[in-house]
Order: sequence, then C-alpha cells, then structure tokens
Amino acid sequence: MNWPPHGANPHYIYEAMNIPMPEKMIDLSANINPLGPPKILKKRWPSLFQSIIEYPDPAANRLSEAIAEKEGLAKEMVMIGNGGAELISLLGRMFSRKKVLIIQPTFSEYEKACQINGCEVVYHSLDANWQLRLESLPLEGVEAIFLCNPNNPTGVCFPYEQILALSELCRDREIYLVIDEAFYDFWEDYQSLIPIVENFANVILIRSMTKMFAIPGLRLGYLLANGKVIQTLVNYQSHWSVNAVAMLAGELCLQEETFIQETREYIKKEREKLFSFYKLEGFIVSPSETDFYLLKDPNLKGQLPLFEFLLRRGIVPRHTMNFPGIEGQWLRLAIKSADENDQLLEALKEWKK
Ligand SMILES: Cc1ncc(COP(=O)(O)O)c(C=O)c1O
Repeated sequence: MNWPPHGANPHYIYEAMNIPMPEKMIDLSANINPLGPPKILKKRWPSLFQSIIEYPDPAANRLSEAIAEKEGLAKEMVMIGNGGAELISLLGRMFSRKKVLIIQPTFSEYEKACQINGCEVVYHSLDANWQLRLESLPLEGVEAIFLCNPNNPTGVCFPYEQILALSELCRDREIYLVIDEAFYDFWEDYQSLIPIVENFANVILIRSMTKMFAIPGLRLGYLLANGKVIQTLVNYQSHWSVNAVAMLAGELCLQEETFIQETREYIKKEREKLFSFYKLEGFIVSPSETDFYLLKDPNLKGQLPLFEFLLRRGIVPRHTMNFPGIEGQWLRLAIKSADENDQLLEALKEWKK
C-alpha cells in the first residue's frame, strides 16, 4: 500500500484505501486550529491582496524584526521560511552527509530531509510513556539531533529542564540540537526556550505559524538560532522564498495574543471532554498537551479496522503507518470544533456497539 506521507488532502487516503470518498468529511488528519484564522486576516485581506503586485522583501526584514522584538532576540538570530517544512529541508542540506539522530516516533520530514542529503540517520525511540531518556541516547559520532516538542504524533511535551540538560549535553559534544516547536503555542505550560537559544550556539528552534493561526495554505514559519547558522541557511534558501501575503499575515498574527489564549482554552476544554469519553469507553490515548493525540482501541492489534470504519463515516484520522515504532498501532486525531468532536464520539460509540 502506498500510504500518503502526511495528513490533510483526504482524497489521497481514500484513494489509497480504495474507499469511496463521502461528500461531507471531518478532517482530523491535519492539526490546524479549529477556530480558523484570526479575524484580522479577513478584515485586512484587501491590503494583503495589494502586496501581490510587488516582489516580496527577500530578507523578510519587517517580519524578522517583529519576531525578534517579540522574542527579545537580535534580528540576526531570526530567519523566515516558507513554512517550517522549508526550514527543515534547509537544515537537512546544512547537515549534509553528517550522522543525524532522530527521536522517534516523530514528524517524517526530518528523516526525509536528512536522507535526501546523504546523512547517516540513526534513531532513538521514546519509552513506553512517550518520554525521553537522555542517558540512553546513542550519541556516538552524532552531529545533529532532531527533537519535536510538543511531539508530533503523540502531543506529549518535554519539559524545559530536560531540554536544557539535552542542550548542555549537545554543546559539550558539539552536536546541533534542532527543536521543532511547530505546536508550542498550544501548550499551556510552555516555558520559552529563548534563553537557551541565546546561550547555546548549537541550539536551533523551528516554529510554524500555520498551526495556531490556521494558515497552512499561506506557508509561513521561522527559525531562531545563532547568527552563523542563520547565515548558512539563508544562503541555501531560494530568493523570494516567502511570499508577501504570508509575511504581512505573519505580522498581524504576531499580535494575536488573545486569540492564542482563547484557542488554548478551547482546545483544553475539548480535549478534556474527549479524554473523559475515551476513559469511560476503554480507548487508550497519549497524554497530549496540544491539539492532537494518539488513540487506540486496545481490543485491536492494529487499528486499521477502526481507521476504515471512521473513513467510511466521513471521519478522517491520520494513519500512523509512516511513524517508526508505532506503525498502524495507533491513530492520530486532531481536536476540532465541539460539533465535529461530538460527531467523532458518536461514531466511536457506534464502533463500540
Ligand atoms: C512537527 C511539525 N513541524 C513542522 C511542520 C511543517 O509545518 P509548516 O511547513 O506548515 O509550517 C509540521 C506540519 O505538519 C509538523 O507537524
């Protein structure tokens, strides 16, 4: 079977599974904010539209400055990318032919970016509770590590103290540590890693603006790191890589603190509703602190029958076939609107009958 490598665009999974695509669907395979984009984007759309008639600033100065100011960092430590995905692929190029450690299960683009650049890729699996054990990391000869925090697909977060300890370990061994924070703004207890980036030249943070602000179609992310790392990556990036609409939208989104707070509260409420249902009905979930989680029916060995059952009802989970270590043993589900989540629960009640 040719499993689609990512969530979203549900027709790919329906085609792969040879299941007729229902007219209406609830797409739980992409972890995008169910509240949609901040209202200001629609309101300002005419002025955003106006920006398409000129080339964008290739250095993305205004947005870099706005991010630098917000984070209290020097502008030289900020780089804007065409989504976190572009930044990951540029890092793959920077690590070309090096030995890279990926903490699994995690987002598949790290592996792809490294493999295409001739890296030797080694893996370390999280423990049974999805936690990281620093003492058992295979660091021999490793020159870079990819860690996703909050982790995709589990939604589980690694605490600040552990990231600090890992940063120290990596600094002492001259290893780059890439921390992908694509979902950091959904995490209520998040403690900023900016002090770590400022003090450790080997630590690189990736952030995506597409999840929280529901703008995956615009493509916008940024990277925070030492100025030398930024220079190397900028040299690899194609000119005008980030479009003008995305940059202007990014500036507007940066001001949306209340929107972020409301989203967190909404997600938390829905997550608690979903998780208490799962507990009651005997489903198992990963202890997620973000807007998605892993789910399994423990009565099944592989989750394919449940996956197919939901797809036939127009509910689209994300398969886990390409997440090493958990292939097919879990489904990943995004937390969506209250109504969509209720429809999921109705379907799962039916499944249990
Ligand atoms: C962990 C993680 N990092 C990065 C990305 C890329 O996000 P984008 O390129 O939309 O910013 C994704 C997208 O699914 C992701 O899950």
